[in-house]
Amino acid sequence: MPRASPRWPAAVRWLHWLGLLLVVATAMIGLLMVDMERGSDPRRLFYGLHKSLGVTALALAALRVAVRLATRAPAPLAAPAWQLRAAHATHLLMYALLLALPLSGWLLNSVAGQPLPWFGLFQLPALAARDPDLRQVLDTAHVWLFWTLAALVALHLAAVLHHQLLRRDGLLRRMLPAGRG
Ligand code: HEM
Ligand code: HEM
Repeated sequence: MPRASPRWPAAVRWLHWLGLLLVVATAMIGLLMVDMERGSDPRRLFYGLHKSLGVTALALAALRVAVRLATRAPAPLAAPAWQLRAAHATHLLMYALLLALPLSGWLLNSVAGQPLPWFGLFQLPALAARDPDLRQVLDTAHVWLFWTLAALVALHLAAVLHHQLLRRDGLLRRMLPAGRG
């Protein structure tokens, strides 16, 4: 029988879904922009959007980690020990990547000597000096960090679907933004 389970604090729930939207939008724009015609206006627009949304995702991830540390998590649902350990490791890694991925983008942008205007409103500082050698390394790192996060999210989604459709233990409801617990 599904049993009522305590939910995540409201701030954790809202930040989870807002984070999902931001990361998916940033990633889709990123995947599209790299194939656009060099020097074209749409490409410039997409790069600007990607970087501004990405920096916003970084701020949100930092806030999320702070809120997560400052609040109490609900007790995990009953599951074999290896699954609890796997879930814990996946969550930790996703948090780490949510910080490392946009930071690697910001570093990449810095060593490439590119400006970083946040939605055209104000300039964010460079995190490192211009360095053509590091540029390639950071470009590769940014792409690899992205695909690692994508693989973890796929695993995460598979685990949530397993709970929702096979175990029917109400796991998803613990994280839904609104509604009763
Ligand atoms: C959660 C945030 C982010 C995600 C999910 C993300 C994802 C991506 C993806 C999927 C690509 C395309 C990779 C490829 O196929 O070559 C990309 C490229 C890029 N990203 Fe990000 N990114 C994020 C944050 C940032 C930030 C904050 C910046 C800079 C401030 C940034 C700068 C770049 C740049 C400059 C490229 C293009 C690299 C090239 O032209 O080869 N990204 N990103
Ligand atoms: C694709 C749709 C997604 C669904 C349906 C989903 C669902 C969930 C659910 C139900 C939980 C709570 C698990 C529990 O109560 O123990 C959770 C936790 C979590 N999710 Fe997602 N999620 C999704 C996407 C994402 C994405 C894209 C990310 C990050 C990039 C993410 C990161 C996390 C993290 C880090 C936690 C752990 C919370 C903690 O322990 O602090 N999720 N997710």
